[in-house]
Amino acid sequence: MPTLDELIIAFDKGLRTVFAPAQSLRATPGRDLSEAGMTEEQRRFSASLMRVNHAGEICAQALYQGQALTARNPRAKAALEQAAREETEHLAWTEGRIEELGGRKSLLNPVWYAGSFALGALAGLAGDRWNLGFLAETERQVVTHLERHLGRLPEEDGRSRAIVEKMKEDEARHATSAVAHGAAELPEPAKAAMRLSSKVMTETAFWI
Ligand SMILES: [Fe+2]
Ligand SMILES: [Fe+2]
Repeated sequence: MPTLDELIIAFDKGLRTVFAPAQSLRATPGRDLSEAGMTEEQRRFSASLMRVNHAGEICAQALYQGQALTARNPRAKAALEQAAREETEHLAWTEGRIEELGGRKSLLNPVWYAGSFALGALAGLAGDRWNLGFLAETERQVVTHLERHLGRLPEEDGRSRAIVEKMKEDEARHATSAVAHGAAELPEPAKAAMRLSSKVMTETAFWI
């Protein structure tokens, strides 16, 4: 079981994730690209898609924090923490892009965070193989989702597209690394339930 100290640290990280701006070591992809060709309507649409992606990164933070809290094997923990650092950069990139587009973040971010944290902690309790299996499947589903967004983002929005491309690359690597650390393959009903819950999240965050 996690100690009281660990719980307090996790709670503090959660508050900062949802309410404080995220930092990135790597430069934001595509920031030198021009966006002069975008219409107002395209900007609004891109901002909505990037709000969904930002909410997804809030969930990623929460999942990783929840998982790291209950993961047992130190190697699994280290892999989770490395990926979590890259997720923080994704959070910063999507947040910055939403601002540039004049959009806003999802009002339900605290809800997405709390739900994902609980899921992550449960996955961690199930043992490292399942924990990593859950992570690998999450990342694979995120890659599929980001691919769909690349099909929907306006061609003129090179900046958002560059961010999504880079995130897709990172998420695919997170999946591969989880498998390399011994991830179990989840049963199909679990994968379907995950697809369904992320569908609820992504469709809600597009509007709210
Ligand atoms: Fe991410
Ligand atoms: Fe990831």
